[in-house]
Amino acid sequence: MKGCIFDLDGVIVDTAKYHYLAWKKIADEFGFEFTLKDNERLKGVSRMASLDILLSIGGITLSEEEKLKVADRKNKIYLEYILKMTPEEVLPGVKEFLTALHGAGVKVSLGSASKNAKTILRQVGIEELFDAIADGTNVSKAKPDPEVFLKGAELLGLAPADCLVFEDAVAGVEAAHRGGMKCVGVGDPEVLSEADYHIGGFEDLKMEDGKLKIKNVTI
Ligand code: BG6
Ligand code: MG
Repeated sequence: MKGCIFDLDGVIVDTAKYHYLAWKKIADEFGFEFTLKDNERLKGVSRMASLDILLSIGGITLSEEEKLKVADRKNKIYLEYILKMTPEEVLPGVKEFLTALHGAGVKVSLGSASKNAKTILRQVGIEELFDAIADGTNVSKAKPDPEVFLKGAELLGLAPADCLVFEDAVAGVEAAHRGGMKCVGVGDPEVLSEADYHIGGFEDLKMEDGKLKIKNVTI
């Protein structure tokens, strides 16, 4: 393993709650209910695809122009939450693990669908821990397409097979595999059953003598 590629939402930070609050505000304005369970369907899904799912829940049809306006409004609400984020919101063990990877000479890239990725990394103070950023601004195909992870490997100057992906969404695990990379599932092992390895959080990981150990199993 020469490089690690990290999804952002749900792996580095828990922004799903802010996406939920912003989409819920839009649903409230339209006058329909949008639950936390519904929100699960939006994880790892692009902004416009998320809007399509939301509108289908509300049984609402909009023109393409109206959809762009609603997506823009949702993003403005989302950014209000994002711009209040603090370094304390980086998920436990992430900073330490990224620092250990750098110490071991392993390169680090982001691989996220979000167009707000850089803003979020800057806001929580960890932008400098990434050697490369593949995100919604430099890729166009959504996971499970492997484009975002292949871009991450390319930006690091590495072959996909030399990279390990960290993901919390089923579509992300599939994207890693389709790109020829192994994947660590972060979260529920039953949901992420296709992942090659599983962790509950980054405290389960450590670097020892330049090698990655997951719950004492050497990768
Ligand atoms: C993904 C999230 O990382 O980014 C999705 O899991 C989100 O929920 C997508 O819709 C796009 O994010 P953004 O910030 O570009 O609207
Ligand atoms: Mg995610």
